[in-house]
Amino acid sequence: MIAPMRLLLVSALAVFSVIALSGQAPERKGGGGPPKNLKVLPAGTDRAAVITTMRGFTAGLGVQCTFCHVQGQFDSDDNPKKNVARMMMKMVGDINKNFPDGKEHVSCYTCHRGAEMPLTAPPAQ
Ligand code: HEC
Ligand code: HEC
Repeated sequence: MIAPMRLLLVSALAVFSVIALSGQAPERKGGGGPPKNLKVLPAGTDRAAVITTMRGFTAGLGVQCTFCHVQGQFDSDDNPKKNVARMMMKMVGDINKNFPDGKEHVSCYTCHRGAEMPLTAPPAQ
């Protein structure tokens, strides 16, 4: 009876170290692992690249991740701001496509300047 128990323990440890090494520890603050629900960013964009894009959003709008995401469920679309952000991403892509040099001149920050709602008119003098 002892041998099978030991085997079980050894395989449990092996599984644990594989999880630890791949960095896919049990869902913690949204967990790791490849993105599951990308509709605007190119399919296959890895998690690190997605997070870099996301930092541009938080800085651009002056918000936290939960402005667009359900806490701890980054793949969920239940927060309606996330789909507004998708529309904005496409709009920014279209704007940048029209620059003849192909460079990315316009970002979220260009309009938002660290605010949720960009100003459409200058503040009253
Ligand atoms: C302004 C809105 C906005 C903010 C703020 C934001 N995100 Fe996102 N996030 C999105 C959108 C939109 C997508 C989906 C992009 C797509 O469809 O290609 C996304 C996708 C993701 C994904 C991929 C989820 C999956 O499995 O498909 C992760 C991870 C993520 N965001 C993490 C973060 C983190 C971490 C922060 C804070 C640093 C953050 N986001 C802030 C809008 C936002
Ligand atoms: C060309 C200017 C412009 C750019 C660039 C831009 N936005 Fe916006 N954004 C706006 C305007 C204007 C509004 C307000 C729209 C309204 O009143 O319905 C807005 C609103 C939003 C909202 C809704 C805010 C709220 O409180 O409901 C989100 C989310 C958002 N933008 C995300 C982004 C993200 C993410 C980017 C970069 C990918 C971006 N925007 C780039 C002009 C811009």
